[in-house]
Amino acid sequence: MQESAPLRKQRVATLFDRVADGYDNPSQRFFPFCADRLVDYLRPAPGERLLDVACGTGALLSSGAQRVRPGGGRAAGIDLSERMLDRANNNIRKMALENVDLFPMDAEQLEFKPNHFDAIACALSLYLFPAPDAALASVLRVLRPGGRFACSLFGPTAFAPLLDPLLAHLQRYGVTEAPLWRNLTDPARCRTLLEAAGFEAITVEQESIGYHLPRPEAWWEVVTHTSLRLLVEQLAPAEQGQLRDAYLAELEGAMGEDGLWLGVDTLFCTARKPSGATS
Ligand SMILES: C[S@@+](CC[C@H](N)C(=O)[O-])C[C@H]1O[C@@H](n2cnc3c(N)ncnc32)[C@H](O)[C@@H]1O
Repeated sequence: MQESAPLRKQRVATLFDRVADGYDNPSQRFFPFCADRLVDYLRPAPGERLLDVACGTGALLSSGAQRVRPGGGRAAGIDLSERMLDRANNNIRKMALENVDLFPMDAEQLEFKPNHFDAIACALSLYLFPAPDAALASVLRVLRPGGRFACSLFGPTAFAPLLDPLLAHLQRYGVTEAPLWRNLTDPARCRTLLEAAGFEAITVEQESIGYHLPRPEAWWEVVTHTSLRLLVEQLAPAEQGQLRDAYLAELEGAMGEDGLWLGVDTLFCTARKPSGATS
């Protein structure tokens, strides 16, 4: 039976509440790398109003807020997880950024005035929402006519070559579900979703943002601080330990001189709200 949307949201929010404290670990530096890249695509300008949907611990907000700050621009971040928002608040205070506002909010029901923002981002999160089309409609409503939207998603081969062996181990224990992001990795599907929501001037670029991890345990840190954890936790605790030991031993044999390669195949989409649009 398919999980209801409210249950799915609750499960995802609880997951991120649990992983928030360790989320900014160096093993998953692809999050800040991809956030910086997404800011390049979005091009927030001085004085603008910027929104980051599902801002997590604030990787995109920090650089976005810095870009809009001259001329009195402000950045807002929303997220469903209170713990992620707490971490974002800490990170933003460390950067002494005074022009950021954080709100607990559902991406599918953005509670801002229509046409309020000049630019909106959503980094590596759209696939987590039960109804990405509802989230895009909500984004379109609060974006001003002519305003810009940019989002990133994992591509079809994200986390190669480490992911497939993990999925094979999980299958042996009867877990056959795909990682959540795999429902939205097709560039053509992303384009269609944006078009259907009413955006124009759509672009979809695919980039590989990868790096070496020093040891298999560093990849396990990624597994346990992302939505992959939802798959592993379908096993009993003893089985989780067995799977981890067998899988990491296998990866030990795959270590190269520089460590383990983590490929992060990423899609970057940009779009605009039509100038004549009313919301
Ligand atoms: C993989 S993290 C990405 C966070 C951040 N954008 C980044 O790039 O590091 C996904 C985030 O989406 C948030 N999230 C999931 N579903 C959400 C929803 N329906 N509304 C708002 N935030 C949501 C999670 O709480 C989590 O912080």
